[in-house]
Amino acid sequence: MNAPFAARMDAMKPSSIRELLKMTERPEVISFAGGLPAPGLFPIDDIRVAAERVFAESGARAFQYGVTEGVSTLRELIVAEMASRQVACSAHDVLITTGSQQGLDLLGKIFLDPGDVILTETPTYLAAIQAFQCFQARFLPVATDDQGIIPDAVDELAASDKLRFLYVIPNFQNPTGRTLSLERRKKLVDIAQRRNFVIIEDDPYSRLRYRGEHLPPIKSFDDSGCVVYLSTLSKTVAPGFRTGWVVASAAIRDKLVIAKQAADLHTSSFDQLVLERYLRDFDNRQHVDKVCAAYGERYAVMDEALRQHMSDGYSWTHPEGGMFLWVSGPQTLDASSILGQAIENGVAFVPGADFFPGGGGRNNMRLNFSNADPESIRSGISRLAAICAAVQ
Ligand SMILES: Cc1ncc(COP(=O)(O)O)c(C=O)c1O
Repeated sequence: MNAPFAARMDAMKPSSIRELLKMTERPEVISFAGGLPAPGLFPIDDIRVAAERVFAESGARAFQYGVTEGVSTLRELIVAEMASRQVACSAHDVLITTGSQQGLDLLGKIFLDPGDVILTETPTYLAAIQAFQCFQARFLPVATDDQGIIPDAVDELAASDKLRFLYVIPNFQNPTGRTLSLERRKKLVDIAQRRNFVIIEDDPYSRLRYRGEHLPPIKSFDDSGCVVYLSTLSKTVAPGFRTGWVVASAAIRDKLVIAKQAADLHTSSFDQLVLERYLRDFDNRQHVDKVCAAYGERYAVMDEALRQHMSDGYSWTHPEGGMFLWVSGPQTLDASSILGQAIENGVAFVPGADFFPGGGGRNNMRLNFSNADPESIRSGISRLAAICAAVQ
């Protein structure tokens, strides 16, 4: 049968590297490709106890349908978490989502008609490109530097009357690991208020800071409701729960609730109750400190190995947190053309071009350092460097 697919599927092309990256599941391949947290650090024992308490104390409620907004006691814990991130909100402002990835999809649903314009960092998060492409949006990639997205460049592009929102990842950005400066955070809010567009602030990584000073979210400078803030428990507890949250003004939150009802009614009741119990009964701060210590060490090992092995002409970012760094090679490098060879030699990465919605970026690679142990990182970088040297 010739299945009659919707026109929007034309914009959603399969990734040319997906088949290659499937091979990274082979145990002999050291993968810097995925965005996986270190599984050895998941707080499994504490989660087991929390789950037993939910079975014993919440009973059938844990397995019943729930409200779309999310379990109220979990939302209250999120309010406290937001206060510690310098954002004042109430439980009414919080919507629990099935991962922050669902938050992106719901925002696309409520804001985007075909041909609408969105501004993104260059480069930006691959799965956000996919989520917004689904709504046939037009991407206007905005220039960035070491301090993150450049506000003057946003201001210039914001003149489009089709502009719906700016999508930005302010902390330890995926894919570059860069962090948006404090001054630019404030400037973006000024521009959004003056130009009347929404900022979607996607912040999965701020808790994973292992060096330097914590910066307040863009949302903390918003007194007009123009910033929608997303975060997640994927990196601070475990991604398999698929539990994140959105903080938004009442008008936006109400539309998101309608869109979420249509999508999945609500996020798993059991998962929310286990997370709520875990966060209430165990010391998640201490757990995150442990994760940060491990990732900080892994970053340092990767940085050192890159210094030792990479040829002249290669540079990379020096993130103060998160899970990724970004390697830029000479302009002649086409990172996707060496991926096959890299995998044959037992190392994988994601070629940079996939993160550029407007094309370009072929001379870059995203490397994840949270998932491989230090010894594998040393060995993987030496293999990768040998391949890069061979194509020069
Ligand atoms: C920038 C960014 N946003 C959203 C997500 C999705 O996170 P979640 O597991 O909460 O869906 C990720 C995951 O890696 C990410 O890097």
